[in-house]
Amino acid sequence: MHKLLAAFALFARLATLSLAQDGPADSTMLAVRAQKFGGPEVLKVERILRPMARPGEALVRVKAAGVNPVDWKVREGMLKGRGPVPPFVPGYDIAGTIESFGSEETGDFKVGDEVMAYLAISEGGGYAEFARVPLQSLAKKPSKANWAQSGGTPLASLTAWQALFDQADLKPGQSILIHGGAGGVGHFAVQLARWKGAKIFVTASEPNHDFLKKLGADVLIDYNTEKFEEVIREKTKGAGIDVVLDSVGGETQARSMTVLKKGGVLVSIVQPPDPKKCEELGIQGKVFLVSPNGAELTEIAHLIDEGKITTHVSEEFPLAQAAKAQAASESGKTRGKIVLNVK
Ligand SMILES: NC(=O)c1ccc[n+]([C@@H]2O[C@H](COP(=O)([O-])OP(=O)(O)OC[C@H]3O[C@@H](n4cnc5c(N)ncnc54)[C@H](OP(=O)(O)O)[C@@H]3O)[C@@H](O)[C@H]2O)c1
Repeated sequence: MHKLLAAFALFARLATLSLAQDGPADSTMLAVRAQKFGGPEVLKVERILRPMARPGEALVRVKAAGVNPVDWKVREGMLKGRGPVPPFVPGYDIAGTIESFGSEETGDFKVGDEVMAYLAISEGGGYAEFARVPLQSLAKKPSKANWAQSGGTPLASLTAWQALFDQADLKPGQSILIHGGAGGVGHFAVQLARWKGAKIFVTASEPNHDFLKKLGADVLIDYNTEKFEEVIREKTKGAGIDVVLDSVGGETQARSMTVLKKGGVLVSIVQPPDPKKCEELGIQGKVFLVSPNGAELTEIAHLIDEGKITTHVSEEFPLAQAAKAQAASESGKTRGKIVLNVK
């Protein structure tokens, strides 16, 4: 009897300890957190409190979370003042199901809806079992895309959409040079430019050329062995092109200015173009940071369902291997998207 009581007391104590560490099962979640700014080793899997949706937000049960270069840039402290402050849950791309709402306002959504969203840079929170999302950032998940594809879609596709259509106002029949065509943003930009009816020049390493031809690129340029200015001069008979999407910056950006027609637009997603140089050449130079936008993401989801664009996922990792996934992104050789499978 004495032994039985002792065993019961030990069990009760262990249960109390477990509760103290984990909290009740329905109010906590597994998440990856960056303990401080630094290398991949600062990312730790932890059990923490679930976020609560605020008025105008939904709580999403995350199935997949996209990995983007900005994730490791924020982790390394390169976006101090704009990104979240440690300890924080990284991740800006999610796909999952709506668990609850923060108020009676639910927009076009209901509990159980399959959705995807790009989360604000200042917040993050995607590498977790639950994330809260403003209603205006949500879009219904495309039925033609699986969870991994949907998790990898929002940030990169919205960047391509906003660069081509909101910033450059790309029109049918115009020509565009897309740098980094095989990457997350680039592979969406190629498909959106194809859908719009533009002539597409793309820079990419040779092993990615077949992939990009299938997505709709017209002229493939291997930036390792060819000068894109020379190829464009030859192919356009010196006329130049209408739009450049710059995802590389530096010398590539400076050289890109010279391939534009007068009045052409260079849109950079990495670095502001030199305004003096733009004025001298008679071109427009722009830089922007992608904004969450549920309406635009809904249009992108429709294009996916119509078979006009697709999300290419090249690597998938379990949530616990977020550090490995970020290291893969940091290699700079990603084809399409890297995604974390959360559930
Ligand atoms: N401003 C914004 O709102 C915004 C939004 C999204 C992304 N970004 C930034 O834009 C950049 C690209 O993002 P991402 O998600 O597309 O990255 P990503 O998926 O990691 O891009 C990888 C691709 O970049 C290509 N690449 C590397 N160096 C290149 C070069 N010199 N010329 C042409 N291609 C090159 C590689 O092509 P190969 O393998 O063929 O060599 C690879 O396919 C990142 O710096 C990111 O932080 C900014």
